[in-house]
Amino acid sequence: MENRPLRIALTKGRLEEKAVQLFGDIGYDCDRLINKGRKLVIDIGGLEIVLVKAADVITYVENGACDMGIVGKDTILEYGKSFYEILDLGFGKCRMMVAVKKGTDFYSGYSRKKIATKFVNIAREYYNKKGMDVDIIRIEGSVELAPLLGLADAIVDIVETGVTLKENGLEVIEEVCPLSARLIVNTACMKLRREEVLELTEKIERWVDRPEGR
Ligand code: PRP
Repeated sequence: MENRPLRIALTKGRLEEKAVQLFGDIGYDCDRLINKGRKLVIDIGGLEIVLVKAADVITYVENGACDMGIVGKDTILEYGKSFYEILDLGFGKCRMMVAVKKGTDFYSGYSRKKIATKFVNIAREYYNKKGMDVDIIRIEGSVELAPLLGLADAIVDIVETGVTLKENGLEVIEEVCPLSARLIVNTACMKLRREEVLELTEKIERWVDRPEGR
């Protein structure tokens, strides 16, 4: 493991552009990342980057196939078990919210409420803490549809600009937690390659704290 450069798993999609900018800004050759074609492991000069789906970032880092990862706090809360979460990167800021069809009173009536979400563990924990017995329904995408079609009383989902809720006649009733991109490290790697990990983390930390960063 020590013979290859540190390998970092980046989340494809929403966090990708900012993560690529980060590595460019701290001095790596990100042209190779931008013009990667179909290549899956990209050497940016001293670091290896792989771009994968959010939940897979966790899997690769937990198993040590990747040393570090950049992933949203939502994915960490939903799927994360054993790794170090070492830095809040300050981008990809959004919130996990409970939303309902505009004008409905979620707490009225005695029937058990149905909650549709992609984040079943986050939703279950939230309602457990409230001491509320609810049915959680797993939905894979476009969760906003569920209350509109009568499948659920509420959704637990990510809200960034609020446009998706607004355009579909939904409104926020509660905040579950704030979210943002985080830097995570494999636990064995943190011991075996501590110097390298901390050196890279310090560079990233300086980037996070740059004047235009926050
Ligand atoms: C997320 C989330 C909302 C939307 C919120 O979905 O599930 O649908 O973004 O963003 P907004 O507040 O800026 O409108 P995403 O685009 O990640 O896709 P998905 O529903 O397919 O998971």
